[in-house]
Amino acid sequence: MLTDKINELLKEVQDLHAANAEELEALRLKYLSKKGIINDLMNDFRTVAADQKREVGMKLNELKKQTQDRINALKEQFEALSESKNDADLTRTAYPVKLGTRHPLTLVKNEIIDIFGRMGFTLADGPEVEDDLHVYTKMNFAADHPARDMQDTFFVEQNAEDVVKNIILRSHTSSVQARVMEKTQPPIRVICPGRVYRNEAISARAHCFFHQVEGLYIDKGVSFTDLKQVLLTFAREMFGPDTKIRLRPSYFPFTEPSAEMDISCNICGGVGCSFCKHTGWVEILGCGMVDPNVLEACGIDSKVYSGYAFGMGIERIANLKYQVSDLRLFSENDVRFLREFEAAF
Ligand code: PHE
Repeated sequence: MLTDKINELLKEVQDLHAANAEELEALRLKYLSKKGIINDLMNDFRTVAADQKREVGMKLNELKKQTQDRINALKEQFEALSESKNDADLTRTAYPVKLGTRHPLTLVKNEIIDIFGRMGFTLADGPEVEDDLHVYTKMNFAADHPARDMQDTFFVEQNAEDVVKNIILRSHTSSVQARVMEKTQPPIRVICPGRVYRNEAISARAHCFFHQVEGLYIDKGVSFTDLKQVLLTFAREMFGPDTKIRLRPSYFPFTEPSAEMDISCNICGGVGCSFCKHTGWVEILGCGMVDPNVLEACGIDSKVYSGYAFGMGIERIANLKYQVSDLRLFSENDVRFLREFEAAF
């Protein structure tokens, strides 16, 4: 009889729960106090036959121990909870804590994405560690094309003697265009923002990495006029409604014809200042009609489709927008510089 009861209680105490300190105290009183269940059992113990005393006694002790353990465990839980409620840092300032600010390059990038997004361009992304195929070959750079030198490529080395010429750090985000064209048939309308790398000595005007946004539009009957209108809209949205653009003939392996685009200097409004070297114009991007060779290399029928592409440096745009004269500021993370952009978003 007594053994059955003890066994039952042993099971019961395993599942004891208390929602608060009062409930826990009630449990303690119910099981462990002088008038509690276990003490009652101790009294009953006297009536146990002498030959069973040893076994029942051990069981009873076991029950008492398990009940104590369970109640102590619950107590510890409550204590831990109330301690964690009290760990507020009383030395912390009562003034609003300063949040971080967005990096100026991110601000400018987001604005560029926004402007082209409103014109129907979607985002495309690709790897920074790329192969030659997507950075150069599919972009119509012949193996011995001198334009490869233009880009000052970083090669990924496995060891000093064994330079893996095939794997490089992308030197422009045109590689993303190649990847998009391989996978998708026109109409294609994407912009590809991203970091690019060039083996240049670091100075106020050049860096070994910078950021670009390139755009690509391919469909039936796309013409240079479409390109010009989209770029004019971009320039006005970015630099204000009075901004003028001009296109100068240029050369890129992947576009034909190619051009570089200047905007009227947004610092002097086009009358001439030291920033625009008194010309009234500043260059902001390269562009052109996608070379049919590029379309064919990426599996797009150049007799059916045509397209345009453009590419700009985000640092360059940020420089014009915020007059940051030293490129290095963008990657040094000096908070005094970064905080200047607090109000910009
Ligand atoms: N890829 C070129 C660069 O890195 C920019 C560009 C893109 C020019 C698309 C024309 C068309 O300089």
